[in-house]
Amino acid sequence: MARLPKYDIVSIEDLEIDEIERIFRLADSFADGIANGTPCTTAAGLIMATLFYEPSTRTRLSFESAMHRLGGAVISSADMHASAASKGESLADTARVVSAYADLIVVRHPFDGAARVAAEYATVPVINAGDGSREHPTQTLCDLYILRRKKGRLKGLTVALCGDLKFGRTVHSLIYALARFGANIVAVPYGGMDVPDYVLERVAAERNYNFSTISIDELKSQAGGLDALYLTPNAPHQMALFTGEMPLETVPSVRPPAALDAFYVTRLQRERLAEKDRAQAGYAHFDARALRSSRAHDAVVMHPLPRTDELAYELDSDPRAVYFEQAAAGVPVRMALIAWMLERGHAVARPPAAGPPIKFKDEPAPRCLNPTCITRNEGAYLHQRFRLARTTNRALLVLRCEYCERELPVEFVGHATTHRFYRFDENLYGYVRQWIEEGTLSVFETVKQAEEGGYEPYRRGPQREIMNAAEIAVACGAIATQIIGDLADPTGLAFVGVVSRGAMLALRLRNLIEARTGVRAPCAALDVYAGAAAIQPIDGPDFDVDGRTIVLVDDVINSGWTVQRAMTTLWQRGRPATVKLAVLIDRGHRALPIRPNYVGKSIPSARADRVQVRLGPMAGDSETRKSSDRVVLYTMVESIKEAERPQ
Ligand code: NCD
Repeated sequence: MARLPKYDIVSIEDLEIDEIERIFRLADSFADGIANGTPCTTAAGLIMATLFYEPSTRTRLSFESAMHRLGGAVISSADMHASAASKGESLADTARVVSAYADLIVVRHPFDGAARVAAEYATVPVINAGDGSREHPTQTLCDLYILRRKKGRLKGLTVALCGDLKFGRTVHSLIYALARFGANIVAVPYGGMDVPDYVLERVAAERNYNFSTISIDELKSQAGGLDALYLTPNAPHQMALFTGEMPLETVPSVRPPAALDAFYVTRLQRERLAEKDRAQAGYAHFDARALRSSRAHDAVVMHPLPRTDELAYELDSDPRAVYFEQAAAGVPVRMALIAWMLERGHAVARPPAAGPPIKFKDEPAPRCLNPTCITRNEGAYLHQRFRLARTTNRALLVLRCEYCERELPVEFVGHATTHRFYRFDENLYGYVRQWIEEGTLSVFETVKQAEEGGYEPYRRGPQREIMNAAEIAVACGAIATQIIGDLADPTGLAFVGVVSRGAMLALRLRNLIEARTGVRAPCAALDVYAGAAAIQPIDGPDFDVDGRTIVLVDDVINSGWTVQRAMTTLWQRGRPATVKLAVLIDRGHRALPIRPNYVGKSIPSARADRVQVRLGPMAGDSETRKSSDRVVLYTMVESIKEAERPQ
């Protein structure tokens, strides 16, 4: 029996161009075989498992049909929500377990980067059947297969991608492929649903490929409207877009496009949108009128399906409508992909193009900010992995998540041996590269996070005390009085303090209220930088937020980002009746419209000032340990001079 090599197809870029060509040749012969009823035993004895955590008709059924037609067998969980996933089993465990039952796993999942996780943990090959809004490589194989059949080539074609280009994973894989095949792209996004930056940057950095974006209105504007569109090529192969063989330097700066060869229409990916954004008003409706312009006359109309309202049924009888052919190609193309994997035998997987991911000295590593990244949604077993983003701008430090590819701008960096932190700027670029190599780089989203990690600013200006221990005690007492005054009944009260000083203050407030009312409210610490187990009870076995009046406590409020993140964590935990915010210091500079309910002291301060609350034994260094509670203000000396090599 043939064996499948451990070769995963997570991205369309896991296949080279000549490999895709080979798959298409195989697909042609499988299509003939299906038409002629020729039996096939290519995959006899092999079992494919389909793990679909999201709905599917075409992808799943065509994969399953393909495996049956290859003489193989299929196992599947009819609905992954009916599997152990609903009991909380991780994707990693499911992938490991199913590896013992099947020779190939096909996975679809709602989170970006999930296919990579499945591929890393499965011991058998994994094919990505759509991971969140990231990629859908096998749909792209079907799309390219039909496009090439209809147009006779891919190189030099001009394809208009229309609709939800932000969340449409089929679009992203298609962009990567068209860029490599030397086709031209015109992006026609539905308002706000532009191709994400990380996709644009990937094709720009790796393929030196750029493309134009036009609005739906421009596309729709009157008969012949396409004549009014002007495209600016950035890569030489985009010259194919323009009439004549003009050398680059003589081409006028504004040029009319040549004919469009295909419209690739997509639906609004409603399931990836918040409820309030799901209305489809104003979304492109593609009908026969779009094909009337002379430049669009020979264009084929493609759609990965399912369609909703964006594609008129009247087009179905038009020979230029090829979407049902794309769907039908699912079987021979997926047969061809599996057959190609078998043909590949035991060849070793290619090494990843980029070097190893950055090793961070301090755990936890930075968190990916994309809420639908798999690392944000799977248990703690999944470690964040980042590489340096491909940006050429040395004034910015940008990391790229290995799983979902989203970028994470870093404002503060630290050196793990000296325990100093810096605001990143151009002068640090060389050092940071070196620290990455040494494995001594730490990164922080905020100064607060750096301080919580035991880091000191590289240099600070003179500091002055703005509150002493007695003043802090008075402020806490006043807040406690206000809280009691606001409460009809203190029994539903609970405190959640942001780690670590907010948690210490929460405990103090709780104790003050207990002393005055006799009611001991539960108290928990919330770590905004931790993963799933972010809320820990401080002095009781359990902590329940449901139906309670929560007082969220932090030491200092500044931009409001920490509070916003804390609120998100709270709401993940349950449904409080109300949440009130208490802070010891409000220092202004809010980036979000958040107003605390209880404030100890307002201290308008310059942006570069740092307000630090030092409380009891946990405060700062050994010198401050001896002193009592206080609040100090100092100026951070931020930039580092070329000559000042950090030690
Ligand atoms: C697509 C998907 O799931 O991403 N469907 C498919 O596989 N043909 C497109 C979509 O759902 O809009």
